[in-house]
Amino acid sequence: MPVWRVRDVHDDDLDEVVRIWEQSRTTGSEPVYGLAEVLGALHGDGVGVVAVVGEAVVGAAVMRLGGDRGWLVLFALASDWRGRGLGSALLTELEKRVAARGVRRLSALLPEGETGAQAFQNCGYQTRELAYFERVVPMEPLESERLEGLGGRVLAHGLWAALAGMEHEKELIERRIVLPLSDPGLAERYGVLPPQAVVLFGPPGTGKTTFAKAIASRLAWPFVEVFPSRLAASAGGLAPALRDTFHEIGELENVVVFIDEVEEIAGRRGDKPPSPLQGVTNELLKLIPAFREREGRLLVCATNFVRALDPAFLRHGRFDYVIPVGAPDAVARRAIWQRYIPAGVREHIDLAALVEATDLFTPADIEFAARKASQRALEHAVYGPLDDDNGRKGPTTEDYLDAVGETRPTLTATMVEEFNEDIATIARL
Ligand SMILES: Nc1ncnc2c1ncn2[C@@H]1O[C@H](COP(=O)(O)OP(=O)(O)OP(=O)(O)O)[C@@H](O)[C@H]1O
Ligand SMILES: [Mg+2]
Repeated sequence: MPVWRVRDVHDDDLDEVVRIWEQSRTTGSEPVYGLAEVLGALHGDGVGVVAVVGEAVVGAAVMRLGGDRGWLVLFALASDWRGRGLGSALLTELEKRVAARGVRRLSALLPEGETGAQAFQNCGYQTRELAYFERVVPMEPLESERLEGLGGRVLAHGLWAALAGMEHEKELIERRIVLPLSDPGLAERYGVLPPQAVVLFGPPGTGKTTFAKAIASRLAWPFVEVFPSRLAASAGGLAPALRDTFHEIGELENVVVFIDEVEEIAGRRGDKPPSPLQGVTNELLKLIPAFREREGRLLVCATNFVRALDPAFLRHGRFDYVIPVGAPDAVARRAIWQRYIPAGVREHIDLAALVEATDLFTPADIEFAARKASQRALEHAVYGPLDDDNGRKGPTTEDYLDAVGETRPTLTATMVEEFNEDIATIARL
């Protein structure tokens, strides 16, 4: 007869449970679940049992329930009670309790070699070969509330890698912006001041917004886009709303702030009669130096029309870099095409022909043409003539070229010329 007794866990047991939980970490690695999750299960939707000998707690198991699934969030055996069947007894009792509540799938995640692995095998658990991925999002609860209030968010990891081609722009941004911001200690040793504000300029659809988001993703900083058009609708008017927004942003620990089409609020002043937006431009000119006072923040402004910006806006001291983002060259177009042609189809496509046919196409134009070709090929495959099984294999080079022929490129030779002039006169790298 076992000398222990298994019963439901009580609040009074908690200190003891935590003590043996700490004892049972034989491998020295941290358990997957933390105390907060264990308490959450005990006080919320979960079940816990302890094994006691006399008054002493010698083992504990806690499971958190959701739907028909139970996750073991704590499993602990006192050190001198191992290898005696106590673990199996705890799991068996736990199973009875959770099965009564309709839970059928029981899962446990243990560091390799952790105490009690034998008990799981004895109780019919199968080991699954899985990779466990974990990431801790670096943010305090208050921060996330603030961020939400600003309409900001933490973007998916990997947007930087998803940016196809544009190697020249990527390298520049990587070196000038990402490197010093992500390793400020190293930057300081070399006397480099990390940038705090940059302008991206270039024709529509070249990827300015995409770059701004990719920078935030790359730095793992939250992303907040400021929409002047929305702020303009607020009661006090645009300038005060802009000031309030920047004040809120100032409370965030790290952030990439993005203002698109910035020429709308930072256009050249001095027109006659004075534009109603002059007050807003003045406000923004004051806000940027204040924004720059603290580290860990980056303002990215984008514009299609850099020559329309007020010269004072672009001055040294406000923006560290004024970076052109132009149409993709042939190498970049190839990479962008590859991004938008499905795997399995790509091998049968004459990429060189697509690259050649899409001079002056922006990434947005290529994306548009690629989606159009895909949609058309899909419709052809499903609704087209039955004897024609060609379509079933996915879009062909002809499908893509047809779609390209029907897509008007955003860029014109004049736009390219003007862009090159802007690079010569306004860009600052
Ligand atoms: N390098 C790239 N690789 C793949 N897709 C891209 C790339 N750059 C941009 N795109 C795609 O092209 C579209 C337009 O890009 P984006 O909105 O970033 O351009 P933009 O320069 O901000 O344009 P606008 O000046 O009109 O605001 C998006 O759908 C984006 O996903
Ligand atoms: Mg944009």
